[in-house]
Amino acid sequence: MGDESKKNWVLMVTAQSPTNIAVIKYWGKRDETLILPVNDSISVTLDPEHLCTTTTVAVSPSFNKDLMWLNGKEFSLAGARYQRCLSEIRGRASDFEDEEKGICIKKGDWEKLNVHIASYNNFPTAAGLASSAAGFACLVFALAKLMNVKEDCGTLSAIARQGSGSACRSLYGGFVKWDMGKDLSGNDSVAVQLADEAHWDDLVIIIAVVSSRQKETSSTAGMRDSVETSPLLSYRSKEVVPKRIVQMEEAIKTRDFPTFSKLACTDSNQFHAVCLDTRPPIFYMNDTSHRIISYMEKWNRFEVTPQVAYTFDAGPNAVLIAPNRKVATLLLQKLLFYFPPTPDTELNSYVIGDKSILKDAG
Ligand code: ADP
Ligand code: DP6
Ligand code: CO
Repeated sequence: MGDESKKNWVLMVTAQSPTNIAVIKYWGKRDETLILPVNDSISVTLDPEHLCTTTTVAVSPSFNKDLMWLNGKEFSLAGARYQRCLSEIRGRASDFEDEEKGICIKKGDWEKLNVHIASYNNFPTAAGLASSAAGFACLVFALAKLMNVKEDCGTLSAIARQGSGSACRSLYGGFVKWDMGKDLSGNDSVAVQLADEAHWDDLVIIIAVVSSRQKETSSTAGMRDSVETSPLLSYRSKEVVPKRIVQMEEAIKTRDFPTFSKLACTDSNQFHAVCLDTRPPIFYMNDTSHRIISYMEKWNRFEVTPQVAYTFDAGPNAVLIAPNRKVATLLLQKLLFYFPPTPDTELNSYVIGDKSILKDAG
């Protein structure tokens, strides 16, 4: 790596990654360490403009330890998930050379170089809007780029999965399925793109940020309790989800909004029913979330065909999907009228989204 005078260099990469919202939920692991799920799941990747993570990763011979900052505050990298992602990427790094800057890093040198990571979420962290998904997808993608990792997206998705399960789906844009896999190694538990971001681009996604507060029960702890105590979860993963996955894939392929809406809403409700079936019960939704569900159900029943699909992740925030711009405009008007963002309510903003792909800002 050259002499002392050449040790002041810093090699840096910045990447951006969107969140994804599951329309058939992942909830429950069969392997806690490798993060292998109890069922397949399907999600829509959102556009990075409103809900995304931006991560800058850098190496330099002058860094004397690995460090991370999340949203401007120092954040410990000691957790097993961060360590796993770092070592999986370092183990796959390849030679890098920049003659102009006098940088020459051999494959084996990457292990000796410390990394600095600065990550920023432009939306609430740990509030049920999949910050762990955007966060780990972005971290793995940025590190892979920095360390000249030549693996395909499937392998990167399996590494991101070991940071947070839902992160494996944020490596792709459009509609994405996380195949639970069969292998004990987890190598076949990867995300696959069902359709790219251009498919079904009439859909409009509106997110009601009902609360940006950090949730009391993390997804990891919540699903661990559900696996241990909820009889409904084992029924759901074996008897219900496999059929829904087939139906959802078909609904996406044929742009069948009524079926898409029915499946997404029912699956979200069953996931929250599993949370209630857990001991002690987990309450991710609040009164505003319940009122939004009732309102959307009434509207869908009043019309000839469903107008909207709703889904809630592990938090109170509503993700509403309209079949086109016309309905989305009407939906937003209704939301602003019936659920106005005021200082009195916790509901604080609306975010209009779209589907998208991972963008490399490096
Ligand atoms: P969410 O619903 O937001 O995904 P989780 O409980 O699943 O909430 O995960 C929150 C955790 O994800 C955080 O405590 C942090 O460990 C991790 N995380 C969030 N954002 C990032 C990021 N940008 N980079 C790395 N890790 C992140
Ligand atoms: C409700 O991926 O956050 O958002 O794998 O433990 O990090 P860990 O959990 P996480 O769980 C996401 C749960 C969900 C549904 C989903 O995204 O499929
Ligand atoms: Co999460």
